Amino acid sequence: MLKTIQCGELRPEHSGQEVTLAGWVNRRRDQGGLIFIDLRDRWGICQVVVDQETAPDAHNHASNARNEYVIQVVGKVRMRPDGTSNPELATGDVEVVASEIEILNAAKTPPFYINKEDSIDEVVRMKYRYLDLRRPKMQRNIVLRHRVIKFIRDWLDAQGFVEVETPILFKTTPEGARDFLVPSRLQPGKFYALPQSPQQLKQLLMVAGYERYFQIARCFRDEDLRGQRQPEFTQLDMEISFVEREDVIQLNETLMRALVKAVVPEKRIMEEPFPRILYQDAMEWYGSDKPDIRYDLRAVDVADLAGQSGFAVFVNNVAEGKPVKAMRVPGMAGNLSGTRLRTVAAELEDMAKAAGAKGLAYMALPLEEDGEVRGPVGKFFTVDQKLALFERLGAQPGDLILFMSDRREVVWAVTDALRPHLAKELGLLDPTLLGYCWIVDFPEFLWNEDEQRWDPSQHLFTMPMPEDIPLLDTDPGAARGSQYDMVCNGFEVAGGSIRIHDRALQEKIFPLIGQDMDSAREQFGHILEAFEYGVPPHGGIAWGIDRVVAILAGEPNIREVIAFPKSQTGSDVMSGTPSSALPAQLEELHIKLDLPEEEEIEA
Ligand code: AMO
Ligand code: AMP
Repeated sequence: MLKTIQCGELRPEHSGQEVTLAGWVNRRRDQGGLIFIDLRDRWGICQVVVDQETAPDAHNHASNARNEYVIQVVGKVRMRPDGTSNPELATGDVEVVASEIEILNAAKTPPFYINKEDSIDEVVRMKYRYLDLRRPKMQRNIVLRHRVIKFIRDWLDAQGFVEVETPILFKTTPEGARDFLVPSRLQPGKFYALPQSPQQLKQLLMVAGYERYFQIARCFRDEDLRGQRQPEFTQLDMEISFVEREDVIQLNETLMRALVKAVVPEKRIMEEPFPRILYQDAMEWYGSDKPDIRYDLRAVDVADLAGQSGFAVFVNNVAEGKPVKAMRVPGMAGNLSGTRLRTVAAELEDMAKAAGAKGLAYMALPLEEDGEVRGPVGKFFTVDQKLALFERLGAQPGDLILFMSDRREVVWAVTDALRPHLAKELGLLDPTLLGYCWIVDFPEFLWNEDEQRWDPSQHLFTMPMPEDIPLLDTDPGAARGSQYDMVCNGFEVAGGSIRIHDRALQEKIFPLIGQDMDSAREQFGHILEAFEYGVPPHGGIAWGIDRVVAILAGEPNIREVIAFPKSQTGSDVMSGTPSSALPAQLEELHIKLDLPEEEEIEA
């Protein structure tokens, strides 16, 4: 080894020892006869002192070294002189007096500071990702990711799970996104599909009798990279035989709680056991099936009151069976001036309109007992109607009440758009809090208006709730699926279900989702066939590891916890991926490109 101890590990107990260190120059201060170097490795930073008088050669090398040079230092650990300790560093009580310094490798001036937590242009960070990953914050994130995965592996191993690797070159395993295709050279004109998840294979492992399977699995989905998505991402994939929904939920909740306590003990889980929210309630209250429950801000049904008011929009909508919802925003009206209140309301109305609404009526409650309710619709409600409304919402002086009325899907979208914005404005986003919940009782299918057919709300292997199976024949839209999602701070972190394990029932799903039996057999024949050889009832789940780690790391984006992520356009800017193939490669695959004009020129 070129080092005998890590920079970050030096402590007073090492005082008097001769050590060899190696790492990067984090910072160098030249004070003439004395040079101070902050030497950095993955374990931390320590101070090296080089004295021209006692170590002239070392001093000479140190004066040539620049930030990010890789150097080796031989020296003696000593306590820092009184009054010079640095409480910011774990190594801050000691320093190393260098006797020898060797420059192992020089460095150009990096395109950004490694030693400052500056905000750096993301494109530059991605282009020089290896430098970006040198930054202590990124190293903490990547190490946290390792800890999370290691904890999960050990925990599941202790519970009798086996990790089984499944192929990357496989057949389409649909999860609702587009497949990435890989052309086969040996069978021209044929393609592999990269798995969107190991879903089929883990079910086949249940047929194969493994009973408790997991995998830290890479998944590939060619989809638009909105939100917390990457074209390749990592799942904790899991499948268990002889279980019911409750078993899978319990096991995963226990694992998540143990994980949080082990890797981020400073964070607080908001509610244990995790609250369970019915899909329908989540949509009605929060307008989302992945609500951030750290704050309330929920939409409350006030159709009965609004329908009695004198406001024509509400009265007409209620007559047509459309909802009227009100959301109480605590203290937001406060003592805003009339102009300011109108500006705030107009901004919120713009957000609501962007989400599809026609307007966003409001009432601003006065701070004083005898004050006036402000806003455009107060006058349409009688005093009694207003009092009933305030009571239902638990409204307090200074609150702002927002009204939404439209088709229920529009009201959901508006609620979902406003909640996170308002929470941020009101400072309700506690970064130390983990608001976990389970969403259950999803519909088995969602209506696809464009295609005029049902889509599976999770995937086509999800078992309907047993008591709802007869509804597949009569009213598929009313059938609930066995799906469960784990949500944290507004992100879906895991999703799973109990599976169909019966060929006849599985075959019933295909026509409902607009897939004819011939193409279903072509795509899924192997699994349908397997279903004739003794299939245990089974179910499972998959966690989005990138999302879990990002939330635990307190990072706003999963790119911060992936070593080499893709950009919004699916590229790796560092290596210039994707890139063109050589003509000979394409020829071998019998592929001819037929690109639109400009792209051909660009390529
Ligand atoms: P699902 O499609 O819900 O379920 O995926 C499971 C979890 O993976 C995460 N996730 C993603 N993370 C980053 N980038 C993406 N593009 C992306 N897509 C999904 C989410 C999600 O909750 N086979 C089923 C699981 C099962 O039924 O057992 C599946 O893949 O956090
Ligand atoms: P108007 O009568 O169009 O001036 O609207 C009066 C108030 O009601 C305004 O604040 C509008 O934003 C609001 N409003 C209009 N339509 C709706 C609706 N469908 N839902 C909620 N608020 C609305």
